Amino acid sequence: MKTIRLQADHPTDIIRAGEILRQGGLVGIPTETVYGLAADALNGEAVAKIFKAKGRPMDNPLIVHISEISQWKKLVREIPESARKLAETYWPGPLTIILPKSDCIPDEVSAGLETVAVRFPAHPAARAVIEAAGTPLAAPSGNLSGKPSPTTAHTMLEDMDGRIEAVLDGGPCQVGVESTVVTLATQPPRLLRPGGITLEQLRQVLGEVEMDEAVLNPLKAGEHPASPGMKYKHYAPKANVIIVDGPYESYCAYVNGQKVPGVAAMCYNGEEARLEVPAVCYGGEEDYDEQAREVFDALRKLDELGAKTVYARCPEPKGVGLAVYNRLIRAAGFEVLHVD
Ligand code: TXA
Ligand code: MG
Repeated sequence: MKTIRLQADHPTDIIRAGEILRQGGLVGIPTETVYGLAADALNGEAVAKIFKAKGRPMDNPLIVHISEISQWKKLVREIPESARKLAETYWPGPLTIILPKSDCIPDEVSAGLETVAVRFPAHPAARAVIEAAGTPLAAPSGNLSGKPSPTTAHTMLEDMDGRIEAVLDGGPCQVGVESTVVTLATQPPRLLRPGGITLEQLRQVLGEVEMDEAVLNPLKAGEHPASPGMKYKHYAPKANVIIVDGPYESYCAYVNGQKVPGVAAMCYNGEEARLEVPAVCYGGEEDYDEQAREVFDALRKLDELGAKTVYARCPEPKGVGLAVYNRLIRAAGFEVLHVD
């Protein structure tokens, strides 16, 4: 299949993307978090193609994207007051809310669960495409299953060229990591995946919010996670990533002691000067938003460098930094080395 390149700032291209989606095709779309691989969420056959194109396990449910809060009502059994308040505060934006699903959600979307995840994205092109399609869109991140999520149309094409009908280029993503996922189907509400809306921001509206064990820890053998996506290896570049936790001095000393071909570093901006191995920066040490924007690109760049082993500076799990830590620790298969 030839994948058509469409431009988000061309109105006729938005209409074309909408047509392809209405006819049951797949389109890569920009959102403020990462690029998504979209299909008509109410067409089970179209949604099944997403799993095929990504090589995604069928038991991993998808997020349904809407372009107006009013579309939410039809997708869920009911909208409790807490959910309404949360949506009014943070939508449109990088937040996904899980509630018990209504009957119109195909099994392919919910992957056999009784709930559905819904998100109202802030990116104007994402909203325009949903409107042009005239239907909510199911969309996982636009990478091959297990790879880092794409934050540009170009990186999405690296994984999806020839596998989908079209990609709509809307420029680089503002947030850079996927949305925060919170379930209100349990009491108290539970954070399943950290993202651009922080745990503190959720607590400001909801009061008590638990953080799922799987946000920071590997699953134990045979354990069933609240979010099926958490059991799969994620965000993994070709290189073996190891997180090095400790002060900058010790980090440099440790990494420079490992200097052989194939070893590379993933560090904060400006730190590469002291390193004697090839280095890719992923943002300023205290700029968690920048780290979120850069983290997936940095992982892909390290692959381009041909890195075999990557020693990554340990992100601070605070605010949006919690999302960066969550993605990087998965890319590292939970391998953390402590240096003093
Ligand atoms: O920012 C985002 O959320 C991006 C953009 C494209 O919107 N989408 C995205 O989708 O990251 P995906 O499929 O890569 O991640 C969705 C995560 C998965 O871990 C999945 O298991 C979980 O959300 N999920 C979806 N529906 C769920 C449900 N009903 N219950 C529990 N977890 C659910
Ligand atoms: Mg994903």
